[in-house]
Amino acid sequence: MSFWWRPLWIVLALGVLALIASAGNHAGSGWMLFAGGLVAYLIYHLRQLSRLSIWLNRDERPPLSGDGLWGDVFYRLEKLLRDRRGAQRKTAADLEQMLEATRSLPDGVVILDQDNRIVWLNDAAERLLGLSAQRDLGQFVLYLLRNSRFGEWLMSEDLARTLTLESPSAREHTLSLQIVPLPRQQKMLVARDITELARVEAMRRDFVANVSHELRTPVTVILGFLEAFEDMPGAEPGEFRKHIPLMREQSERIRRLVDDLLALARLESEPDTRDETVDMPALARRLGDEAESLSQGQHHVHLMLDCQARLIGNSQELYSALANLVTNAVRYTPAGGQIGIRWGMAENGGASFSVTDSGEGIEARHIPRLTERFYRVDRGRSRATGGTGLGLAIVKHVLQRHQARLRIDSTVGKGSTFSAQFPFERVIPEAAGSA
Ligand SMILES: Nc1ncnc2c1ncn2[C@@H]1O[C@H](COP(=O)(O)OP(=O)(O)OP(=O)(O)O)[C@@H](O)[C@H]1O
Ligand SMILES: [Mg+2]
Repeated sequence: MSFWWRPLWIVLALGVLALIASAGNHAGSGWMLFAGGLVAYLIYHLRQLSRLSIWLNRDERPPLSGDGLWGDVFYRLEKLLRDRRGAQRKTAADLEQMLEATRSLPDGVVILDQDNRIVWLNDAAERLLGLSAQRDLGQFVLYLLRNSRFGEWLMSEDLARTLTLESPSAREHTLSLQIVPLPRQQKMLVARDITELARVEAMRRDFVANVSHELRTPVTVILGFLEAFEDMPGAEPGEFRKHIPLMREQSERIRRLVDDLLALARLESEPDTRDETVDMPALARRLGDEAESLSQGQHHVHLMLDCQARLIGNSQELYSALANLVTNAVRYTPAGGQIGIRWGMAENGGASFSVTDSGEGIEARHIPRLTERFYRVDRGRSRATGGTGLGLAIVKHVLQRHQARLRIDSTVGKGSTFSAQFPFERVIPEAAGSA
């Protein structure tokens, strides 16, 4: 309860005094007293108002003391301002925290005003879009990201549409851009790096295209014969018979392709190998025999067993991978060439299975791509020899599952060496084997 009327009481008391005085021949001095009281009352309030005005105009506001009504007003005002300052500080802290989080987002974020001028951008936007927070604030984004597709997209107002664009700062990166509307006609431009996604998508497209292409040729051959037979109702059985070998060959090609695709799918879906002890010298001997039989005496096959070490691994997987290296050597080495199969220890305690041939060799630019699915140096040649182009992709996967790596050394015109290099953790050395 305040005593805001206290000064008023004084004035009223003076008024009553003035009335009493006027009743007793002192009218003039009584009214003077009353007027003086009123003026004092007014001055008092004007002074409080002026204190308040000065106080409000100050940046730093020490507590303001006052009596009665004014004390109450000062107290409430001060509390109101204190609460507002607290709320402002909290909002500023929240905003700073949000900006900090947005600043370190992996996606690029650019805030644009209604004229598409840059208001704010984060670190990822600098990196992905080649913008600079120091240089480009206040600039028109269309002047900085000069790309007709980007301009068209930004002006289209179709906010649901994303735009795929190559990064202006790093061309090998692919970006997906999106616009999010903000209050006050501002908008947020979000740039996401989708390079990896685009690469996987391209691989998937290539893979489907390659598989379809590989299957199309043999299926077309077989279908062609079947249609021809249908059109010759009275044809001799011998007519049919003479085409059977080609149809069989093409059917086998399809089966090989499907088998290899299934093998790859299996390798990818099972993360770990089912380990056992693999007798590598015996496996090398078996592969040597197979090379001889595949070569049909056209090559000189040498087997070099430099150690008797065994491996911890999956014998079935290792057989199919290493057999491909041997088959390739026979397939891509002209008659009369040399083929060496070696199993030996490596300097680092690991072991290596290598196949060397004196074949045509491979140009250096092809080597990094040989383990890609369906990649062949000479497509026609590989097809003619029955290759599906999946062999080295399987080798790579099998070796990866054994923490091993494939090393390819080749000289055009001289020949190649393909080595499967196993780490020492997978090798059971001779001594341990004989113990
Ligand atoms: N020893 C080699 N000498 C020369 N070129 C080779 C040799 N080994 C592989 N290549 C090249 O690498 C390509 C890929 O080999 P990969 O084993 O993956 O497929 P492929 O032999 O064609 O078919 P697949 O092994 O599936 O039956 C081959 O097509 C061939 O061009
Ligand atoms: Mg092969």
